[in-house]
Amino acid sequence: MSDDGVNVGRRRFLTAATSVVGGAGAVGVAVPFVASWNPSAKAKAAGAPVKYNISKLEPGQMVTVEWRGKPVYVVRRTEQVLQDLEKVEPLLRDPNSEESIQPPYVDPENRSIKPQMLVLVGLCTHLGCAPMYRPEVGAADLGGSEWMGGFFCPCHGSKYDMAGRVYKGVPAPTNLDVPSYSYESDDVIVIGVDQEGSA
Ligand code: FES
Repeated sequence: MSDDGVNVGRRRFLTAATSVVGGAGAVGVAVPFVASWNPSAKAKAAGAPVKYNISKLEPGQMVTVEWRGKPVYVVRRTEQVLQDLEKVEPLLRDPNSEESIQPPYVDPENRSIKPQMLVLVGLCTHLGCAPMYRPEVGAADLGGSEWMGGFFCPCHGSKYDMAGRVYKGVPAPTNLDVPSYSYESDDVIVIGVDQEGSA
């Protein structure tokens, strides 16, 4: 009886000792696990969706939002800009975005979910410079009366209209990319999440 008691005590002690060793071992294992987990957590953060509240964006104004290390241009287009989109189509290389990158749920001509709000990846499709926002209609250095506003790449002179559609006769081969995005509410867009809700 007393032997049993001792044995049980030893067994308990051994069990406890094993648990401690196991615990120490687990900590030893946890360090490299955490070290290897951190970069992927950072990578995940770098690729995480970005929300932007558009309520303060004035008609005609553009902001740049960073997403996955890229500039994303968000523009609130005016009614006049939307009406002028059709006028420049004869000057464009791919006015219906047949060879350009954009999600299937954006309109192929105005290239947006809601026409007023334009969302574009701000990287020239030639060699990746950031095009400048040039909304001034008739800008003398950009074609005068033919220029209906848009984006101008200072690196090699590519021009895009107010839907990010590329002009003919410039180095850039395709329209500016449209990223995946969606509306969380009337005022909040989420860049990096498709309209249907899948990332
Ligand atoms: S990078 Fe824009 S025109 Fe070359």
